[in-house]
Amino acid sequence: MAGMSVLVIGGGGREHALCLGLAKSPSVDEIHCAPGNAGTAEIATNHPFNEVSDLIHLAFQLQVDFVVAGPEAPLCDGLADKLANMDIPCFGPVAALARLEGSKLHAKQVMKENDVPTADFHVLDKNSDVESSLDEFGDNPWVIKRDVLAGGKGVVVTSDREEARQFISQSIQTDGKVLLEAFLPGEEASMLVVMDSSGYVCLPASQDHKREFEGDKGRNTGGMGAYAPAPVYTEEVKEKTVQRIVEPMHKALSSRRIPYRGVLYVGLMIDENNDPHVVEFNVRFGDPECQITIPLIASDLGEFLHAASTDNLSSIDVEFHDKHAMTVVLAAENYPGPVEKGREISNLPSPSGDSWVNHAGTKSQDGKLLSNGGRVLSCTGIADDLEGASKKAYALIEQIELLGSHYRRDIGHRAL
Ligand code: AMP
Ligand code: GLY
Repeated sequence: MAGMSVLVIGGGGREHALCLGLAKSPSVDEIHCAPGNAGTAEIATNHPFNEVSDLIHLAFQLQVDFVVAGPEAPLCDGLADKLANMDIPCFGPVAALARLEGSKLHAKQVMKENDVPTADFHVLDKNSDVESSLDEFGDNPWVIKRDVLAGGKGVVVTSDREEARQFISQSIQTDGKVLLEAFLPGEEASMLVVMDSSGYVCLPASQDHKREFEGDKGRNTGGMGAYAPAPVYTEEVKEKTVQRIVEPMHKALSSRRIPYRGVLYVGLMIDENNDPHVVEFNVRFGDPECQITIPLIASDLGEFLHAASTDNLSSIDVEFHDKHAMTVVLAAENYPGPVEKGREISNLPSPSGDSWVNHAGTKSQDGKLLSNGGRVLSCTGIADDLEGASKKAYALIEQIELLGSHYRRDIGHRAL
């Protein structure tokens, strides 16, 4: 399809990367973004909406050919269901399937039913014998997961029994139940699979850096940087992942009345025997994983995402650049804690073919570029090897001036 118009939902670095990829797509003529940021405003028309009802109305009014959902919340709230009722294709699953991210317990049950490897777990509620469950998984740190969308704050991994007890009892109080999971040792990787009822396409696996400081220390964040492809995801791991995880999940999700249409984010833990286990599913692109995955897609992104929204994935070929990408996040002062917004950003470098500047928490006001969130920008380098990608990303980020901002200088350290 040529001359398409598309509405991208969201306003972070992920959505800016999606808009940049769509802007390069010969199949796409018009891009809208809601709510967007200062970066998307340069290539798309921003619309100041967040609520599902407003987004549906907007898609209808604009008569877009399809919608691309960035974040999970509108999907869990039924965005894709309501668009389906209006015959507007959506890249992103219906609410019943978005529960794979919305409920950790549901995700565990789906994995169990389909023999997908994941950690053993207990569901604890007010009647459970918490101490004996803690004893059972007591040889390793305890992994405790709330069964709600908690914006990245719903998981505690701790060796401190008292902290584990407290998080369990708090979660039972607020949510009625909580998951206690066996700890999986190994190395993490993120695998994105685009799927519809006709087929699936695995994107290059990446590695994210979730902690705030160098050496993977400090508080958990949304992600301080990422790179792809991840060397831990070898051909052997890939084969096992496809056979044990992707195939059974695709079979389960594509046989539904409304099949899964969108991207399934598979958080993997790869153990010392190179066996992959699922740590989590998300029903969207990762952020910042999206910023390094989109530049590696050589095919027309608009055609690719539209095909997956309309069950036509098997009729197209998707090609990738044989390159490496790295992105480094520039975070506001005190992120991941509360941040002050509205600080001026200066010296923003100009992007070129293999150097992308992704806006996340930014806005323009009176001709100035201002910070507007915790993760403000991310700089992406693309090169023939990871070292080259790293040099490009850091050459960009070093130029930017924003009072109090910080970034990690060791993104990609496991692979470099
Ligand atoms: P999740 O939100 O489920 O991805 O969990 C957040 C982070 O906690 C993951 O990225 C892992 O680093 C860690 N984690 C979650 N589950 C486990 C597990 N079973 N074993 C070890 N680490 C885990
Ligand atoms: N970077 C992790 C996520 O998007 O969930």
